[in-house]
Amino acid sequence: MLRDRFSAPLDQAAAALSSSVVEDRALLGVDLWESIVHARMLGATGIIPKASAGRIVAGLRAIAREAAAGRFLLDPLHEDVHLNVEAELTRRIGPDGERLHTARSRNDQVATDLALALRESLLGLEGASARVSSSLLGVARSPQGRTVVDGWTHTQPAQRLYWAQILGTHALRFVRDAERFRRIRERIDASPLGSGAIAGTSLPVDRRATARALGFARATASSLDAVSDRDSGTDALYACSVTLLHASSLAEEFVLGSLPGVDRVRLSDRFVTTSSLMPHKRNPDLAELVRAESGPAIGRLVSHLAVLKGLPVGYQRDLQLGKPIVFEGVVRTRLALEVLAGMAAEASYRTPPVSDASTGSVELADALVRAGVPFRTAHRRVGLWLSKREKTTSRAAPIRDSEMQAEFPELPRAFRFPGADEEPERRTSSGGSSWRSVATLLDEVDRRRRQSESATSREVARLQRLRRGAGIPERLFA
Ligand code: ARG
Repeated sequence: MLRDRFSAPLDQAAAALSSSVVEDRALLGVDLWESIVHARMLGATGIIPKASAGRIVAGLRAIAREAAAGRFLLDPLHEDVHLNVEAELTRRIGPDGERLHTARSRNDQVATDLALALRESLLGLEGASARVSSSLLGVARSPQGRTVVDGWTHTQPAQRLYWAQILGTHALRFVRDAERFRRIRERIDASPLGSGAIAGTSLPVDRRATARALGFARATASSLDAVSDRDSGTDALYACSVTLLHASSLAEEFVLGSLPGVDRVRLSDRFVTTSSLMPHKRNPDLAELVRAESGPAIGRLVSHLAVLKGLPVGYQRDLQLGKPIVFEGVVRTRLALEVLAGMAAEASYRTPPVSDASTGSVELADALVRAGVPFRTAHRRVGLWLSKREKTTSRAAPIRDSEMQAEFPELPRAFRFPGADEEPERRTSSGGSSWRSVATLLDEVDRRRRQSESATSREVARLQRLRRGAGIPERLFA
């Protein structure tokens, strides 16, 4: 296709380098949708005869049905998805097929397809992030959430917390991720279609109509920008890296938590593997793999930026290299989130034996502050006392109030050194570890999660309506 003016076919290696049919499979559904909308507009404006437009739309729908059944494969001979669809259309309906590409370039076409495809992917990521949140909330609100474990700083016992605060905190991060994906999606609101190769067209296209039919709020303001703007791809890859960072943190909770000796998490059998050599092993491979995904995610963000740097405005072929990076990014992120949602819901969260009974030391120092001692003095005195005590007693041994009172005579008689499980309730500041604060946290996460989920499903329904109107099978977008 398109080589009549040349005296030789494209060199073989060059053709392989040029082809994007592998990654373009991800664009097949949106390419057909966008082409149907374009053809209808060409007919409605009289740019092509209405009857031709009708035959084109029927032909594209037939290809869409074949594609949904997995029977339409992209031929590398035709370079990309756009030329494949056009060639197949012309093969099916004859000369009318040659009218489809009127007032359109593959440059505005690929930009439009990318916007449509990314919008779908972001919806999927919003839903998947919200599902991780929802799994975590479910456990946080179960009786397991009321159990107490060490909160860690420097991966050392710091202050004791309800499991619900740890899980609710991870849930809060994933809600923010869902909100971030949504903001990026909502910014994809302008249709590039009708921008042509770089400068628009002399034919009387109706860009507002195609924009509306594809679910955009408006048409883009500059044809030159429309064909070269890949910001939403970069935004999506950034959001994926942040989400996978959060995923890696939760995964680490599972890896460390299931380490014998730490024993605060037990992963369900559905999310562990064994060794091919050591029969006793129960390995958290899936948590490790989720943890690892954040590495390549950061790499993809940097790769995408590197592909784009230094390009003049307007379509440059370099842009093609950005596509698989974005597609892979959204697919891997989605997969990691789906795994985490199941892993988090099915794990059990335990209270291991207390390894350090002195984590209530801050409450002791605070009691001294209430008795008038400057905090720095209190910190020093408590630290010295605990270090002296460690020489003769195990850190795990509960602290007796009598030994404490002997050391700190200024303490009010009513003050008790908090037992390991009493600690969280002592800290009553808002956002802190008391159950009251944790319940507020869980309510906030739940409210935002529900908001996010309903925004996502409203948009999914809106897009499904539009596609039904275009006669495109939903299976192509599943
Ligand atoms: N296949 C190209 C891409 O994925 C779109 C078409 C590029 N336009 C061109 N004139 N070669 O970006």
